[in-house]
Parts: sequence; C-alpha cells; structure tokens
Amino acid sequence: MKAKMLPKSSLLKRPHVVANFAITWDGRISTAGRTPSNFSSAADKRRLLEIRAEGDAVVAGWETVRADTMTMGLPDRALRDLRVSRGQAAYPLRVVLSGGGQVDSGLRLFGETVSPVLVYSTQRMPLAVREALAGRAALRYCDGEKVDVAWMLASLGQEFGVKRVVLEGGGALFASFLRERCVDEVCLTLCPLIFGGREGITLTGSLGEWLPGSVEGSLVSVEVLGGECFTRWRLHYRNKIEETVDSLG
Ligand SMILES: NC(=O)c1ccc[n+]([C@@H]2O[C@H](COP(=O)([O-])OP(=O)(O)OC[C@H]3O[C@@H](n4cnc5c(N)ncnc54)[C@H](OP(=O)(O)O)[C@@H]3O)[C@@H](O)[C@H]2O)c1
Repeated sequence: MKAKMLPKSSLLKRPHVVANFAITWDGRISTAGRTPSNFSSAADKRRLLEIRAEGDAVVAGWETVRADTMTMGLPDRALRDLRVSRGQAAYPLRVVLSGGGQVDSGLRLFGETVSPVLVYSTQRMPLAVREALAGRAALRYCDGEKVDVAWMLASLGQEFGVKRVVLEGGGALFASFLRERCVDEVCLTLCPLIFGGREGITLTGSLGEWLPGSVEGSLVSVEVLGGECFTRWRLHYRNKIEETVDSLG
C-alpha cells in the first residue's frame, strides 16, 4: 500500500493515541548504550501492561523493539479477558516502524504469534528484508524517507478497525508523532534516578532537532506508585515559534 492511495494525511481521521514512558529526573528514557529500559519499578511494569491492554494496537520504533527484545504481548490472562469482555481481540495488533527498513526478521517479536505484526516502512526497505519478513508480518510501504505517521494511523483505523493506539516509544518515534500532532495523551512515570551524560536518549530521542512548535500538557491525574510518580497528561499543540515570528512581523 502506498501513501497516495489515501487522501492527504492531514485530512484523515485517526485513532486516539496514548503514549507511555518511564523517565528519569534528567529526562532520559534509556542509558547511552540503549540498554533495555528496565529501570522502573515492578509496579510501573504492571502499569505498562494495563495501558498496553487499553489499545487495539501497540506501536513502537524498531530500535525499541530490538533494544528491549519486545514481544508486545500481554502475559496476564485477566487483562486479556478484560479486553475480550470489552469486545477487543485478546491481544492488540503489534506495529513496528522503520524508515530504512533494516528490520531483523530474527527479532523475538516475530517468533511470538499471539496477534498479527504489521511493519510500516518505506520503499527504502531492501528486497532481502521484505522476503525475510514475508509470512511473519504484514508489510505496508509509504512514499518518502520516513513513514507519514498520520497516514499510518489512518491506515490502522481504516484497514484494521483500530480506534485506540498505545505508543510505546522510543524517543525518535515519539518525536515523529509529536511533529504530526498525533499524540493525544501521555503517561509518564517519573523515576527517582539521574543518568546524566550527553548521549542519553531523551523523551524525543537523541538530542538534536527542535520540534516545530512547543507541545504543552494539562495534568489529568497523579498517583504515587512503588516510590515513583505516575502521571497522565492531555496534550495541546501550539506553534509558539511561528506565533512569535508573526507577532514581530
Ligand atoms: N523508558 C521508556 O519508557 C522507554 C520506552 C521506549 C523505549 N525506550 C528506550 O529508548 C531507546 C530507543 O529509542 P530511540 O529513540 O533510539 O529509537 P526508537 O524511537 O525506538 O526507534 C527509532 C527508529 O524508529 C524509526 N522511526 C522513527 N520515526 C519514524 C517514522 N516517522 N517513520 C519510519 N520510521 C521511523 C526509525 O527507523 P529507521 O532508522 O529505519 O528509519 C528510527 O531509527 C531504547 O534504549 C529503549 O530501551 C525507553
């Protein structure tokens, strides 16, 4: 499927998107070496599964799937039963994004067959990777260097009936979603840790590009959980940078 088969992405209706992260005091979501993100408490890991269980689809960047050896499953039977009682499939669809398409078919994700895996990539995905993934995942291709996130979300809604997406990172993919104003809520678990360093991955990936405008949140809830602070936020998008330029002009 190519992007041009759907109308302009900005005009498309899309599913509701909830992102979920554990973050250190200094805004890191991982260590410099992209070690698996297991620094939060057992209570937070349980909460991650509860949030995942809300989604019709769980979405992650291939770096996170690789670093965390994710299967994107739901090991807890009670959570699966709850989904079924709500009319959802027992397991969410599992969705991976990669612009370059160098996705290793040996990833643990592809060995777990609990629900379909969808890989959204671009025409840059090498033929050998396409062949290796055939039979393990449904492949969707977008024109351009990166996947148009709004288009991908519309595709999930129209083709797969997805109404709610849980975005599980990492930072680079989260930044892609923010650029397209495609995140509605964020769950942030503030962990009492400081990693420091210039190389650490932040909530929006490696330090680099600014977002086109600042993103603000209004607090929905706060809960102290296992010595950590679990927060839920609703996001608002304002193009403050452009507004400032306009006001000067
Ligand atoms: N603390 C937490 O809650 C948490 C949560 C998640 C992850 N993490 C950690 O974060 C680290 C990974 O984060 P990361 O920022 O390095 O990587 P990431 O966001 O998981 O993955 C980055 C890759 O995703 C692909 N991607 C991003 N936006 C895309 C788009 N619009 N279209 C197509 N592909 C897109 C790109 O693949 P291509 O290069 O192929 O284009 C990019 O290189 C890991 O260490 C993980 O453990 C922590």
